[in-house]
Amino acid sequence: MISLPVAPVHHTIEKRLKAITYPKYGPPDVLQLKEVEKPVPKDDEVLIRVRAVEATKSDCEMRSFKFAVKWFWLPLRIAFGVRKPRRQNLGGYFSGEVEMLGKDVTEFSTGDQVFGTAGLKLGAYGEYVALPASYTIVAKPSNMSFQDAAAVPLGGLNALHFMRLARIQARDKVLINGAGGSIGAHGVQIAKSMGAEVTAVDSTIKEDLLRRMGADHFIDYTKENFATMGRTYDVIFDMVAGSPYAASIRALNPNGRYLTANPRLSVMLRSVFTSRFSEKTAKFAFAQEAREELLALRQMIEDGKIGSIVDIVYPMEQAADAHNRVETEQRLGAVVIAIDDRVDDSHADCTNLNGRFL
Ligand SMILES: NC(=O)c1ccc[n+]([C@@H]2O[C@H](COP(=O)([O-])OP(=O)(O)OC[C@H]3O[C@@H](n4cnc5c(N)ncnc54)[C@H](OP(=O)(O)O)[C@@H]3O)[C@@H](O)[C@H]2O)c1
Repeated sequence: MISLPVAPVHHTIEKRLKAITYPKYGPPDVLQLKEVEKPVPKDDEVLIRVRAVEATKSDCEMRSFKFAVKWFWLPLRIAFGVRKPRRQNLGGYFSGEVEMLGKDVTEFSTGDQVFGTAGLKLGAYGEYVALPASYTIVAKPSNMSFQDAAAVPLGGLNALHFMRLARIQARDKVLINGAGGSIGAHGVQIAKSMGAEVTAVDSTIKEDLLRRMGADHFIDYTKENFATMGRTYDVIFDMVAGSPYAASIRALNPNGRYLTANPRLSVMLRSVFTSRFSEKTAKFAFAQEAREELLALRQMIEDGKIGSIVDIVYPMEQAADAHNRVETEQRLGAVVIAIDDRVDDSHADCTNLNGRFL
């Protein structure tokens, strides 16, 4: 277990808060628990007391500045700081309670229990975050704890966006490559709720979890290549950077749809040709993470169609362990950091489909 270096915390100073920061790029142990200024919401912002945040692959990629898709590197390095991170906060997907409203905010009330995304502002790895009220932040599902709810927006918003793009019909054969990750596992549940027959592709340790999510078939990518097994699909949703493009397109039925969340430049170009010159469609996309999509996800959770998939909840002091767990890919579901150590009694039913905690 790695405990973060802790700078002195003066609890009597109310204008400061604890946050997990990264003063330089590097391995998980660059993360530090620090006291920082408490943000003051602008007129159009809400101040949120964060209760839980997902530790995501993107957080790890930003911390280490290593990306699966190489062309991201240069534009992101210029945007985020060449020598060291310009803004040292992480955390894009969270749950919490509204504590204060900017004077122009009408859509929230203090005390509202919410979940959502911090967009490019990030900053949910701390006790408080101030965000524009227009961001994708909505009331948390009534049947879900803060910790479970924090595990939904990243995977759920991205999966729903792509599953809708795929125009899934009942009984469509849908293959999800990288199905055991945050996005893929939500994709499995959402595709099932749309009536699809789902094949999940991931490594051996994910099979049991994916079958519990509802996957009808499982292919272990460490033993078999889905694209050369002679089976075909109406939809292939691919989260894996570097998947063989031509073989994946061959594994589509006529009118099949290939969607990739992780496109290399060559795939972006080739997908234009596939869509124009064949009866198959290939799409790459960056999910918009829209408020309407988060509302739809909340409804699906409250209707019992999908659940949260939490692997382990770590305290703030063990954020480096949380990042290690995400990077080493041993996790089964989302890794969550509890930002607030109050007992999480905000839910009626446990909707975590995994149910393993530290
Ligand atoms: N386009 C967008 O809008 C968008 C938005 C967010 C994220 N993304 C990107 O989408 C990707 C997926 O995100 P995520 O958060 O779901 O990632 P993740 O949680 O790391 O999931 C990736 C999954 O793929 C599995 N995997 C690795 N190699 C594989 C292979 N060759 N075949 C099949 N499965 C394989 C991994 O399992 P093992 O490694 O354990 O084998 C893991 O379960 C990330 O690279 C992220 O940057 C795109």
